[in-house]
Amino acid sequence: MGIWDGALAEARDDGSFAVLGVLLAAAVLVRIAAPDEGPRLRGGLMWAALHLALLPVAGALRADGLPAYREVSLVALVFEALAVIGIAALLLFAVLLPRVGVQTPRILRDLVVAAAALVTCFVLASRAGLNISGLIATSTVLTAVIGLSLQDTLGNVMAGLALQMDESVQVGDWIKVGDVSGRVSEVGWRATSVETRNWETMVIPNSVLVRNTFLVLGRRSAKPVLWRRFVYFNVDFRYPPSDVIAAVHEAVRAAPLEHVAGEPAPQCVLMDLHDSYGQYALRYWLTDLAFDDPTDSAVRTRIYFALRRAGIPLSIPAQAVFLTQESPERREAKSREEAERRRQALAHVDLFDHLSDEDRARLAASLRYAPFARGEVLTRQGEEALWLYLIVAGEAVVRVSAGEGMEREVARLKAGNFFGEMALMTGALRSATVVAITDVECYRLDKAAFQDVIRERPELAERIAELLARRRVALETARENLDAEALQRRLTAAQRDLLGRVRRFFGLPSPSGS
Ligand code: CMP
Repeated sequence: MGIWDGALAEARDDGSFAVLGVLLAAAVLVRIAAPDEGPRLRGGLMWAALHLALLPVAGALRADGLPAYREVSLVALVFEALAVIGIAALLLFAVLLPRVGVQTPRILRDLVVAAAALVTCFVLASRAGLNISGLIATSTVLTAVIGLSLQDTLGNVMAGLALQMDESVQVGDWIKVGDVSGRVSEVGWRATSVETRNWETMVIPNSVLVRNTFLVLGRRSAKPVLWRRFVYFNVDFRYPPSDVIAAVHEAVRAAPLEHVAGEPAPQCVLMDLHDSYGQYALRYWLTDLAFDDPTDSAVRTRIYFALRRAGIPLSIPAQAVFLTQESPERREAKSREEAERRRQALAHVDLFDHLSDEDRARLAASLRYAPFARGEVLTRQGEEALWLYLIVAGEAVVRVSAGEGMEREVARLKAGNFFGEMALMTGALRSATVVAITDVECYRLDKAAFQDVIRERPELAERIAELLARRRVALETARENLDAEALQRRLTAAQRDLLGRVRRFFGLPSPSGS
């Protein structure tokens, strides 16, 4: 028997031609249906090629009747089996299962292939008369060597399986390990690959991933993938935060920005106050984590233009040293300026129309400037009254509690209106809560100064009592839903009652002198 006769006989024994024919057909199918699997397909075909290469060797040994023939023939058979396992696994995991909607993690495929290869090797070796299990069981040194060398690998395999099973990391997730973040591209049997935005791939052994803390970016249970980003900017703190925030909100919410979630909406917040500027952040939710810097940049551009439109410059590092020479003239000029501002504030309040210039100047001296931010409570229902408030800019809303934690709006107050007189004039607690709905600038008049004015100008008490009655009835209407007739009756009664109370409270004589 010649070499080629031997090789042919060997091929016949192993069914090589039929097997290779089927493998080639399967390989073509895999190549067409799953072009990404090229490297693994090449691996499978390599085993087949090794099998073919060993056939003439086995044939020659067989022809010469040499004893090594048995081992070479076994190895050729193992190569053939590995080719079959590799390509069959590709056909199953990369072509058939995805067709029915089943995606299998890479690590599972690798394990199945490895297990199948191991079992096949054992079976083929046993059939050929080799006792491998006995060999491993009896050879302590061999067992120790295999055990030690597989220790790390097995740790990684188990860790990879654990990661897959508890779904802590999946392909496509964005994770951050230490300072590096990226998208998980593969969880293999040894390591997990993470592709960074800088076109790098970080390979993390599975056991390291399992043992250490890492962040899964943008993930929250039962919520879409969103990642909150902060875009910082600084504005000189001479510009009111509410104006800055309003301008930025308007700009980022008016038209959608690519990769910025509409819900939750972007939010501008004042993060800190520094030496000469306020530090702001625009917080927004990024929908595609691959586009962090470009989206930050688009958001920053919006902010820049919004502030330009609002006439608010971004702050430049500034250190201002104010050197002012204090002199009696300067002090005098400053106090004149302030007195004028207060006089203006009083001039806007028609309640004090009839006061003489002298009375008004006295009153102005007791005023205190009190600005409030939007949303702040200026006075709270049920609290003790210390001040009368004159609004010089902004708008506030008067709310009264309508029971069961509900509040009802009774009125809105603007520049030129005053409030807080009810409690000051009757000695009662605050009858309503007043809340700023824009930034509000007020002057506060303290209780004693206000009461002095009333004592000296009793006719003011009458004017205020009238207004007081109207306001009080409006409060009762809000609380009790009164009709027009009841309202009129209440108004007359309230006016009489309040005037009496105001007079008694201030110890003023009644009109009849009694
Ligand atoms: P006071 O009760 O001291 O504190 C709450 C203030 O809200 C109250 O004084 C009034 O000045 C003001 N207020 C109450 N009801 C009205 C109303 N109907 N219209 C305008 N202001 C009101």
